[in-house]
Amino acid sequence: MAQAPATADLPFHAEGDLPLTITPGDDPDVDALCAWLTAHPDWVQDELTRHGALRFRGFAVTGPEAFERIARAVDPELKNDYLGTSPRDAVTDYVFNASELPPYFPIPQHCEMTFCANPPRRIFFCCLEEPRKGGGETPLCDFRNVWRDLDPEVRNRFEAGGLRIVRNYEGPKDGEPEDPTQLKPWPDMFHTTDRDEVEAQCRAEGFEAEWLPGDRLRLWSTQPVRRDHPVTGEPVWHNHTTTFHISTAEAELRRVAAFRPDERHRGLAGMAAELAKKQRQRASNEHGMHCMHLDGSEIREEDVEHLRDVVWRHMVIEPWRLGDVVAVDNHSTSHGRLPYEGPRRVVVCWA
Ligand SMILES: [Fe+2]
Repeated sequence: MAQAPATADLPFHAEGDLPLTITPGDDPDVDALCAWLTAHPDWVQDELTRHGALRFRGFAVTGPEAFERIARAVDPELKNDYLGTSPRDAVTDYVFNASELPPYFPIPQHCEMTFCANPPRRIFFCCLEEPRKGGGETPLCDFRNVWRDLDPEVRNRFEAGGLRIVRNYEGPKDGEPEDPTQLKPWPDMFHTTDRDEVEAQCRAEGFEAEWLPGDRLRLWSTQPVRRDHPVTGEPVWHNHTTTFHISTAEAELRRVAAFRPDERHRGLAGMAAELAKKQRQRASNEHGMHCMHLDGSEIREEDVEHLRDVVWRHMVIEPWRLGDVVAVDNHSTSHGRLPYEGPRRVVVCWA
């Protein structure tokens, strides 16, 4: 097999660690980029694995079709099944709006769909409209580093205790929830109102379905705490604790307010803290989303806080530029979203 070209021999400029940013020499043509990527799959695989993400910047990406072409040149096997928790609208058969969650709501770092039987191997983002008023970044974090830098005692408690997830979905008549900590109605997640079909999808993913009065649906599932990288064998923090735990909204907004200490973010953090007090009065199986250990005991709050400290320490936060395409190795590297105001359009696809 031919050697992958050294970065110095590339027809493009490539620099940075996470992500490795690739910019055109003289020619920003997307077809030329795609032809080169398709002809050098070893380089793509090696650099994506090493860096965790590649960012294509300065190419003539004018819409979702050009984005989809670049994504296919990195990985030809795009998929369009989605059992995640963010509301998403389709743009093409394979490209979706990244999240319809309200702009003020931070999305914590997560590798995509780690709680499903087969999480995507790669996820792609593209900026079709830059946030003009600041914020709205899609930070990245190498979860191999998170695994490595967690306090070994905390890591052991997670591994020994395991992870059990509960999610509560409203029924079909209730419409979109206004509270962003509540999930979309179950027919929107499963794209059907047929309970048998829902149960079949749940079995395929390893979710245990429990139907509740009022046509509500509760899902129980378990997931590993760690997965080893399929190419390198490195251990990776590969689970959804930072998303599902009941403390998430409050803790993330507190951190966002410390990172961007202005009145708006402090106000949001204060509101989230108040909301959290009310939410904590519910039983742990009644939350929109929550996770606990396998035996039903609560995860220590200080362990989740320590985890967030490590994640935030390794987060890379850079503003979007129009036409940026980011390819992420979902086996190793997480993504999220910081709050923003005003227009912003980021679309997503995955393989
Ligand atoms: Fe995501």
